[in-house]
Formats: sequence, C-alpha cells, structure tokens
Amino acid sequence: MQSIADVHGAIAQSDTEITIRKAFTYEDVLLVPRYSSIRSRKDVDTSTRLTRRLRLNTPIISANMDTVTESEMAIVMARRGGIGIVHRFNSIEQQVAQVRHVKRSESFVIEHPYTIDAGSTVGRARDMLDDYSITGLPVVDDEGCLAGLLSSRDILFVRDDSRLVRDVMTPGDRLITAPVGTTIAEAEEILQIHKVEKLPLVDREGRLAGLITLRDILKRTLYPESSKDAKGRLLVGAAIGVADDYMERAVELRKVGCDVLVLDIAHGHSENALSALRELRSRLDDVEIIAGNVATAEGTRDLIDAGADAVKVGVGPGSICITRVVTGVGVPQLTAVMDCVREADRQDVPVVADGGVRQSGDITKALAAGASTVMIGNLLAGTRESPGVVVVRNGTRYKASRGMASAEATLERRRREKPGWEGETEFSDVVPEGVEGMVPFKGQVTEVLVQLVGGLRSGMSYLGARALGELRDNATFVQISNAGLSESSPHDVEL
Ligand code: XMP
Repeated sequence: MQSIADVHGAIAQSDTEITIRKAFTYEDVLLVPRYSSIRSRKDVDTSTRLTRRLRLNTPIISANMDTVTESEMAIVMARRGGIGIVHRFNSIEQQVAQVRHVKRSESFVIEHPYTIDAGSTVGRARDMLDDYSITGLPVVDDEGCLAGLLSSRDILFVRDDSRLVRDVMTPGDRLITAPVGTTIAEAEEILQIHKVEKLPLVDREGRLAGLITLRDILKRTLYPESSKDAKGRLLVGAAIGVADDYMERAVELRKVGCDVLVLDIAHGHSENALSALRELRSRLDDVEIIAGNVATAEGTRDLIDAGADAVKVGVGPGSICITRVVTGVGVPQLTAVMDCVREADRQDVPVVADGGVRQSGDITKALAAGASTVMIGNLLAGTRESPGVVVVRNGTRYKASRGMASAEATLERRRREKPGWEGETEFSDVVPEGVEGMVPFKGQVTEVLVQLVGGLRSGMSYLGARALGELRDNATFVQISNAGLSESSPHDVEL
C-alpha cells in the first residue's frame, strides 16, 4: 500500500508556522485499478480477523445501536458470515435475553434444550414454544429422564389448553433417540432413515443429554459461510459501557456465551475507558474485547496496552452523528483508520472501521486502508431485521434510525436508570451528539448484504486481490477533486 505520508500530504503554513495535516475520508479518494487475473468475483476470499482470536467470512459488523442490532439482526449477520453487536440501551436482562436467543438459534447439538414435564398443560407448552420460537419440547421427569417429545404438530388441533402434555406427546417408547457422542453425520442419517425432525440424545441412565434437530442440520448447508463457535452456535457480540453496571453486564453476557464484548464509548482514549478495560481484562480473561472508539495511533496503542483484542475506530463519521459539529472534534475516517492501523499492525491487532460507510465502495476503501472489518449502522437500519416498526409517510415506508447520543436516546436511558423521574430540570444538561431520523425501508438485510459484499468483491477484483491482505498490499489511493467526485456519480441522465 502507498505510504501514509503520500496520502496525507501534510501542508505547512510557513507564514504562521502552524502545520496542519490534511485528512481524508472515503469520498475524498479512489483506489487505482491494476492488473487482475481474477475471472469472477466469486473467486475472491473476503474472510478476515474480527479480533485477535475470532475470524469472520464477511468483514461486516452490524452496529450496536438500538435501531440496528437486536437478536434478529445478529442472527442474519452471523448466518451471512459477519456478526451483530447487540446494543446496551436496555436492561441487563433484556440484553442477555437477546444474546441467548442468538446463541440458541442453532448449534450442532443443543446441549441444554428447553424441556417440559408430562404433567404440564398444553397451554403452558404452547406458551413455551411461542416464547422460545421453537417447534418441539423434550418431556422429562424429575430425574431428567426422557419421557417423551412434544412437537408443535402434536398440539396443532388440540383446542383444550388444559389437557396434559402426557396425553398428547409422543411417548418415550416410540421415540427415536441416539447415544451421547453421536456425530452430526450419524444424526443426519438417523433422521433421514426414520423421517423424523428431532433426535434426542440420551445417556446410559436414560437422561436427556442433548438434542439434534433437522432444522439445524439443514441450516449448515443453507448458510455455509456462517460465523460459528466451536459448538456450531452463531457468533454474537454485545456492547457494554464503562459506568455503573458494566462489569455485571459483562459477566452475565459471558455466562450465556457472548463471544465478544464491545466496550464502546464516544471517547475511547480516556481514563474511564482504559481503567474499565483493564478491569474487564483482569476479571474476564477468556473473552474477546473490542474497545473504542478512537481516531489516533496513541489511542490505539493505549487501548491495546490495556487489553483490547481489536480496536474500534471512528470519532464522528456516523450518519446520525453530530459530534464534530457540536464539539469541533474528530478525524475524517480514512485518515483515522490509516493512523490507527499503523499502530495496531505493530501489535498484530485488527482494526474495526466504525461509521461513515455510505456505499459498498467505502467498505473496499476502509479494508484497503488496513481495517479488518467495518461496522455499519445506517445502511442496515431500516431493514426488516432492524428493531422498530415500519411507518408510512406519503406512501413511502420508513424505519427509525437514531444516534445513541441523541437527545431522545439519552433521555430514555436516564429515565430507565432513574425510574419514576418525571421532572425536566435534571436533564437540561443534555448536549446531544447524535440525531434522530428516519431511513427508507430497505427490505431484508440479506438483500442489502448481497449488494455490499458484491461491491467489495468487485472492488477486490479490480485490484487483482484474491484476499483482503492482497487488497491492502495492492492499494494505491488517489485524492479526487469535487469534479472527480461528481464524475464518479451518475450524471447527465434522468434517474
Ligand atoms: P453509520 O454511518 O454506519 O455509523 O450509521 C454508525 C456508527 O455511528 C456511531 N454512533 C454515534 N456517533 N453520536 C455519535 O457521535 C451518536 O449519537 C451515535 N450513535 C451511533 C457508532 O459508532 C455507530 O457504530
């Protein structure tokens, strides 16, 4: 890649003796094409490092914003090879429930399936199936021994919810089961031969020891690029702050298998962030931690020294962000990424380029500048899987998108933290650094991801890069003028 100095082109104002560096964002530059032997964009590999130890097949992370990532978004992101970071603007219980939902959404073997006892009512079973979005419940006795299986089909035509599970379940003696240690391939064969969808695993004493479902096996072929842990569960991350309950939050999230914690505050290069990170590192040494946000090499170095497994970069580039206008502080995102990557590379730590991605070409530029992944808010907000409802205005469908430091989000958070508060004066000190808005409804997030990843793949093939490391090596940026920018967009046609 071309040297940072070339790109930054520092300018010296000799008459005032002040040197002000030039800094760039994605729109200021383009990547220069070069010879490519790549015949199809399918031939490029977009796999990357998320943190020191975690890898992704798709270098895209959905942002920890309450209008972007809860469990539904996180499930699709992981199935498509990326990852979602569940936001923290809720109670610990709510955030933990979201993470648990993702971790339980699929696995090789469900180690602790939800169960019911034979004396429960059909109504209770129906509620559990609904609450956990599942299609069957193993029935167990007091010792945990398998007594039967209740599937949603068994109760489809049962009108009387007071009937008992034992009267409608498939009893244990008619069930197909398998011993602990059954492989996925063996399970697939058993399910096929017996034309059943669920295979309870039992130990020698007849106790339920796990469950393999046809649905999970099919998902493996349906989503081959999924981001998964060693147990075949989807990867998921969750955000934490640096105040109040952050340690308890982190511990509870870890208990339900959260793969990566994102310590996320607006000014990550602060004593608050560094001391919280050090404490997290010492209490939870087995969890991966992404920390941020910073925009400088010094910030990156300090976060890594405090224990970060990846550094999140971005002060002010976000679509809903007004930090730069309100505070006068920030660094245009391409320069910020390059500065941070330079430091992170020394310690072999990946960088997340967070915010400001407006089109797929920006992803190519961020990764060519050395980021390992990009975090995206706006482009993923307004999809079917983002939290919130669709509203219709003048015949067009929209969903909300808001900054987590917007006035509305800040007030909501304070109200939650101080239940019963009704006054106003206490909150008159709120200085928002984000805005609330609406984005057009975009349909399924998969469709958005297909476009984003497709653009990246094409970008890589223009640079003759079969992998993201090569994209970085082959990158030469040129600065463009306003005329160049307008030439880059559609012009002289009616769209
Ligand atoms: P995009 O451009 O993808 O950016 O929508 C998402 C990122 O924006 C950051 N974010 C904020 N930044 N004030 C800020 O200064 C805010 O209220 C705010 N809310 C989100 C965040 O880093 C996110 O990933």
